[in-house]
Amino acid sequence: MKRETVAGTAMLVTALLVAAVSERLHAEDDAALLKQAQALFKPLPQTMGTPDFPTTPARVALGRMLFFDPRWTLEGNVSCATCHQPALYGTDALAKSIGVQHRTHPRNAPTVLNAGLSFVQHWWGDRKNLEDQVEQALIGVFSSGHPDPAAVTARIEAIEGYASPFRQAFADEAKPITSVNIGKAIGAYERTLLTPSPFDAYLRGDTRALSPMARSGLQRFITRGCASCHDGTGIGGQMFQKFGVVEEYWKATGSPEIDKGRFGFTKDPADLYVFKVPSLRNAAMTPPYFHDGSVATLDEAVKVMGRVQLGRTLPDAEIGEIVAFLGALTGTLPASFVSAPTLPSAAVKRGW
Ligand code: HEC
Ligand code: HEC
Repeated sequence: MKRETVAGTAMLVTALLVAAVSERLHAEDDAALLKQAQALFKPLPQTMGTPDFPTTPARVALGRMLFFDPRWTLEGNVSCATCHQPALYGTDALAKSIGVQHRTHPRNAPTVLNAGLSFVQHWWGDRKNLEDQVEQALIGVFSSGHPDPAAVTARIEAIEGYASPFRQAFADEAKPITSVNIGKAIGAYERTLLTPSPFDAYLRGDTRALSPMARSGLQRFITRGCASCHDGTGIGGQMFQKFGVVEEYWKATGSPEIDKGRFGFTKDPADLYVFKVPSLRNAAMTPPYFHDGSVATLDEAVKVMGRVQLGRTLPDAEIGEIVAFLGALTGTLPASFVSAPTLPSAAVKRGW
């Protein structure tokens, strides 16, 4: 063997050894990161149904129809899907939603996807659960326009085709069309709206489900302290926190109006500027950001979080990595959400 060849072979062997060692180190890093992540976050469950709020097929099918049906609202032109649009991942892409009679809602519409994972509903946490949210939306000034539940049930009763699906969903009840049951039916449908993402595959052990950049972003998300608030199955949705821990939030967001947060509901000064920490699942698909939609891009939202929650100016490269990680939280839409159902016929009689 020629001398150069021997030297060349030695070099190649060394290079391969170095590569193997660094690969092993990477694998060890990967395993450590996965372990850290598994301690902080959980993959999606199969269903968000509970014994009290079961996702029976009859309730889910009825709830899906009611969710997409605009006919029961004041002027017959607004449905849940108006502000929670499937094509926009369950949001409306507006800073603040526009509802019945063009009334502008004071806050941004969060997505309905995976919403059942959150410990309470709404930015202020003033709705206990999905069913409570619906019951109050049935008489909400933006989402319904009706003065009382009786006005809503009268409109639904007037759509003959609803009689049978209500009977099937609530078989043991003499008068099944009630606002409580509408809440249970729409709630049951919402409890099926899960969006499995690459991050869920990662949490189940497939480290390659995240790109190297997204894995760096995950590491930053943990070490920078984002995960101290955005954790659990929803990557958020588990607690209340002040928006603006180190600096008033509106200085960073440029919010034209100042929302006092949960204080508006409890009147407790300790709740000033306190909001539910939102789930970050599908955040890449649901701009604009924050309770008032004051920030247009995810990069900017991450920057604002670094500044007002953690007191840090995050370097652009780090923001890019975190945004890559957040992109891996974008999941697959359920087929029952992608398309709207055919709605029950109102041909027999019309009540308005
Ligand atoms: C006019 C637009 C509009 C309509 C119509 C509407 N919503 Fe919403 N939705 C919103 C806004 C805005 C919020 C945030 C309210 C708040 O936090 O104060 C919201 C919040 C929610 C939430 C809480 C999500 C979370 O993460 O906190 C759920 C669930 C929800 N809506 C479901 C529904 C259902 C079901 C219907 C139909 C019965 C409906 N919405 C009708 C705009 C709308
Ligand atoms: C001290 C708790 C806390 C920490 C730490 C924190 N957040 Fe947040 N985050 C919140 C709260 C509360 C909100 C809701 C603010 C609002 O709109 O009122 C929020 C909102 C967001 C939003 C907007 C979501 C939406 O749908 O509008 C993003 C994105 C976000 N956080 C990412 C991050 C990132 C990335 C980090 C780390 C750099 C981080 N957060 C650190 C509490 C926190």
